[in-house]
Amino acid sequence: MQAAFREHHGLQCGYCTPGMVMSAIDIVNRKGHALDEQTIRAELEGNLCRCTGYHNIVKAVAAGAQAMAQTPLTQAAE
Ligand code: FES
Repeated sequence: MQAAFREHHGLQCGYCTPGMVMSAIDIVNRKGHALDEQTIRAELEGNLCRCTGYHNIVKAVAAGAQAMAQTPLTQAAE
């Protein structure tokens, strides 16, 4: 998920990023890897980004969710 945020420019100042990444992983754990934009936006509703980078954050969460489906947990922890 962190790599997806970097690759999809899901952060600007980075102030909100730790909470966004933690929330994104929780969303994947609860909702699965095939997340649509509406679901991601609804689930991140309580996380505020003062840089207003939501468009790229949503793209990063979707990409990170897909990547997590293809990466075994043991490899992800390395
Ligand atoms: S990237 Fe700056 S607050 Fe979200």
